[in-house]
Amino acid sequence: MKSFRDVAAECRQLPVPDTVAQAHSRTLFELVANEIEAEGGSISFAQFMSRALYSPGLGYYAAGAQKFGEAGDFVTAPEISPLFSHCLAHQAAQVLRELDGGDILEYGAGSGVMALEILRELARIDSLPNHYYIIELSADLRERQQQCLRNNAPQFLERVVWLDTLPDTPINGVVLANEVLDAMPVNLFQVQEGRLQEVNVALGEQGLSFVSAEASDALMSAGLSELAAQLPDGYRSEYNASVGPWLQSMAESLGQAAVFLIDYGYPRHEFYHPQRSGGSLMCHYRHRSHSDPLILLGLQDITAHVDFTQVAEEALNAGFEVSGFTTQTYFLLSLGLTEQLAENHSDDIKQQMLVAQQVKKLTLPNEMGELFKVIALQKDLSLSLQGFAMNDQRGRL
Ligand SMILES: C[S@@+](CC[C@H](N)C(=O)[O-])C[C@H]1O[C@@H](n2cnc3c(N)ncnc32)[C@H](O)[C@@H]1O
Repeated sequence: MKSFRDVAAECRQLPVPDTVAQAHSRTLFELVANEIEAEGGSISFAQFMSRALYSPGLGYYAAGAQKFGEAGDFVTAPEISPLFSHCLAHQAAQVLRELDGGDILEYGAGSGVMALEILRELARIDSLPNHYYIIELSADLRERQQQCLRNNAPQFLERVVWLDTLPDTPINGVVLANEVLDAMPVNLFQVQEGRLQEVNVALGEQGLSFVSAEASDALMSAGLSELAAQLPDGYRSEYNASVGPWLQSMAESLGQAAVFLIDYGYPRHEFYHPQRSGGSLMCHYRHRSHSDPLILLGLQDITAHVDFTQVAEEALNAGFEVSGFTTQTYFLLSLGLTEQLAENHSDDIKQQMLVAQQVKKLTLPNEMGELFKVIALQKDLSLSLQGFAMNDQRGRL
């Protein structure tokens, strides 16, 4: 295994983890190495990513390190400003009003701050849901979410329910997932002379390495071999085989509902564009981004952009209607971001500057504004959703 110092030097001066973090990472490395050996020399990248992020007690999301915010590795929209969650609350309120009440279900609630701010805004406009369900894979994050709500708004705790699995009785209301799709394990593939190959993870002399293998059924059944024939040699990208089953199980648990998935990504023709030849895998470690997922095991986030055309197709297969697709900027503006700003006006110049900075991060095209998209799905509901009032780009999917 490469030393952490070598790795840090190679990867644009990433900070060197402390000794406790290094030991933690080595333990996870042993676990992955044993699995590779047991599986005959290599595992799929999806299996590797799943271990790196979600191995109980060891994976990036499953262990105790601070991940979100200034002291962590990356910042998500709800961590940037409560205005993001307040806009979402207004979208949720429209659906809850139509249904005469109902529940909210949030997947992967991170630090819990989005749930907190949505509930605060819904309380303010007198539109609280009956329950705010949270499905969280990480026991550590679940604890942080509970702490966040307990410390900031204990009055909401009676409505917030953490679920291990989807309930048997159908949920009516709103489903939310911010930056969840990008955290799902993906398969890696490459193109060699027009042929599709899987890229697996093996043990090399210096630690983990990539090896090519026969394309798996997951890739073949997604029609990627036809796509490979049109892509240049050496082209590498990702495929998320979990999207379909995830949407399927969600659809089975919903009665009348609207689903909002917010994430960074593109329609397929941009996602698998010949010029995007290195794929979209990205790692985040203490606010530095780089593209080597095989280092800093368990200490760094690993993500892949979202193919929103795939999400739309899988959603249709699962019985949803695709009801909207737009950029984060248009979504927030349609939900009254400007009005929210005016309502929250402060005479304190410092506060004004801080809020202006936050809004820029959420909306400017070179920040989160355009790369981040929102796709809306509805089941047994055909609302004209407020978040897409200004702009709807479903035609691009
Ligand atoms: C990048 S974080 C985003 C956290 C939070 N939504 C935010 O915006 O700050 C990804 C989150 O998705 C969760 N996650 C990933 N796959 C999931 C799944 N299938 N079901 C529920 N949560 C999932 C992770 O545990 C983590 O909390």
